[in-house]
Order: sequence, then C-alpha cells, then structure tokens
Amino acid sequence: MGVIRAEIEALDDSPIIEVMREGFGRQSVIPMWAGEPDVPTPAFICDAASRALAQGHTFYAENRGIPRLRQAIGAYHQRIHGVAIADERIALTLSGMNAVMLTVQALLGVGDNALVVTPSWPNVMRAMQIAGATVREIPMHPSDSGWTLDLDALFAAADARTRVIYLASPGNPTGWIMSGAEAQAILSFARSRNIAILSDEVYHRIVYDRPHALSFLEIMQPDDPVFVVNSFSKSWAMTGWRLGWMVFPSGATDAFEKLIQFNTSGGLVFLQHGAIAALEEGEAFVESFVARCRAGREVAARRLARMQRLRVVPGAGSFYAMFEIAGVSDTLQFCKRAVHEAGIGMAPGTSFGAGAARHVRLCTAKGTELLETAMDRLEQYVATYVQA
Ligand SMILES: Cc1ncc(COP(=O)(O)O)c(C=O)c1O
Repeated sequence: MGVIRAEIEALDDSPIIEVMREGFGRQSVIPMWAGEPDVPTPAFICDAASRALAQGHTFYAENRGIPRLRQAIGAYHQRIHGVAIADERIALTLSGMNAVMLTVQALLGVGDNALVVTPSWPNVMRAMQIAGATVREIPMHPSDSGWTLDLDALFAAADARTRVIYLASPGNPTGWIMSGAEAQAILSFARSRNIAILSDEVYHRIVYDRPHALSFLEIMQPDDPVFVVNSFSKSWAMTGWRLGWMVFPSGATDAFEKLIQFNTSGGLVFLQHGAIAALEEGEAFVESFVARCRAGREVAARRLARMQRLRVVPGAGSFYAMFEIAGVSDTLQFCKRAVHEAGIGMAPGTSFGAGAARHVRLCTAKGTELLETAMDRLEQYVATYVQA
C-alpha cells in the first residue's frame, strides 16, 4: 500500500507469533513460547487497583505518573539498588515496551545506528527500525558455560552515527547477566563517545545466585547518558497491565514529559495504585515467584541435560532455557511442527537475531508438573524429529 512509510512496510513479523498462530485455540498445547509466568497477578495488587477505581480515580493525571507512584519507584530503587534517584528522572510508562519506544524516539532518527547485543528480545530492534535507524547486531558467543559478550567487538562496531547501545541484563532469551567490569567498561566507552546506553532491566529481580542483577543506576552519575527501562510485567506477574517505568538522565525530563504527552498522555490512573502496592507490599510475592521460577528452571535444566541431540546454553538469570538440536537448522519449522506433533509451544531462535538462528527458547516460568509433562513431550519429539 503506497501510503505506508517504507520502514513500516519493511518490518518483519515476529517468528514467535508465526508459531503461536499454529496453536491458537488448541488448549492441549503447553505454551512456553512467550515470556510470561502462568500465575495471575496477586490479589493485593488487583485489590489496590479495584479500590482506586471504586474511589473514582478516573481522571487525567500527571504525564510521568502520579506523584505517589513516582515516590514509590524512587523508594524501591533506594531499597534494592541503594541509590537515590531524583523524582525528575522517573516516569511511569505503559509497559517496558512503551519505555523502549519512548527512548528510541528520544535518541534515534533516520540514518543513525544502534548497537544491539544479541540474541535479543526482538521488539527493541523493530522499534529502532520504525524510527528509521539501522540496527547493528553484536552477537554474544554461546558455550557450555553460558553466553559471553565481546566488548572489543561492541566498541569496534561504533561509528560517528552510533547513538545507542542496547543491552538487557538479565537477558531475554539468553539469561546472561552483565558483570560489574563489563558495566564499567560500557559506561566509560559511552561517556567517551557520547553514545547513550539503553539498559533493559526488566528481569532485574529474576536471578538465582544474588539478590538482584547489577543496575547501571548503581554505577552511573545522574547526568550520564543512560536510560534504564523497567517493567511490572515479570517480577510481579503483571504482563496484562501494560505498566513499566523508566529512569532517564537529569536534563532529559522535559524531553520525556513531551514524548509521553504526545504518545499516550500518561498511564491508566487507577492501575497506578496497583503498581504502588506491587512496589511497597510485593517483596514476599517476588520472593515466592522467584522460588517458583527456580523450581521450573531446575526441572528444565535437569531434563534438557539428559536429552539426546540437545546442546543447552545455560543462563544465570531471567526465566528461559535455550538449546540447539543436532541436525536442526530450521528452528521455525521445528517449533511450528512441535505445536501439532508434540503439543508444545516454543520460540524459534530466528526471532532473536542472526546469532541465535539455530537455537530454540522456551519459558520456564511455569509450574513444575506442567514442565515435567512438557519435557516428556519434548524428549519424545526430539528423539524422532527429522527436518524436512
Ligand atoms: C528484555 C525485555 N524487555 C522488555 C520487555 C517488555 O515487557 P513489557 O512490555 O511487558 O513491560 C520484555 C518482554 O518480554 C523483555 O523480554
């Protein structure tokens, strides 16, 4: 259609959606394709939002979120990361995705490029393409001990039109967690070249060997060019609420006030009261949720390690398992057929960038019984699978 911008026409559909389409309406399929827990939002969060709705919190409010929520976000960062964040650097967003899009709008234009550490959640790359920017993938390297980032390759890929470095720690799909030394090196490089860091920290609590993943907030100065994206979706089981938040550098407040004004004019007001409850009363839930994720992850790790043909690349955080299958190069076909032939939903690696094309990802934020059944099905499927 001639009226649509070329950048939009050129966008690829997500291969994950292609696989999900195969399974629509099939109750028997065990869904591990999307990054979503199988538990509902805890009642104390829902109740807070319902109360706010009943009390008439139905009017326009501040673009960057109601002050009470921004205060709760600031207190949360103080408690978890030990840093004081000025209120003017905080904004509520309509999901982590919306926070990514706002940041992309603030930083990238036609002809610019962004360095994206891959395998990566695909939506970020699409947002950059919508802005007319070019994505330069920086592939991490898989091994039996996990994924590693080649900092030299990352820095060498930057040129005069590089405006952004995107990375997610813990990563989706990799589970990779950035070390303190890596964070320092990336921050020094970004400062020296005046390149922004888009740090996606939506899985910061989904970790198993430490209380939380390192945040750039812990090492940056308030005016460093670092934009931290966060979300209520994962740690508080609130994917359907579409609530996230971000912390931007001091000096960027006006820009984000305007971007929020002209994109969404702010977030749903009564839902923001649920978000306050999540941050202020949610610690016990987060702990129990991470314990549940740990149990799921252990089932998947134990069962996948035993399967013939599989090569697993372990991750330290988030809630995914990733593996290659000997003799399988077309992972889209592998995942599509798995829906029909095995009743399991998985995500093909082609979704996450060039470096992961031969990998398959599955979400392990599920109950252990369901995962055992899924692993039984996968084991049988893999044992007999022949690529067409
Ligand atoms: C790495 C990463 N960032 C951001 C998001 C966005 O989450 P939401 O838009 O649900 O807040 C996701 C969701 O899967 C993700 O995996």
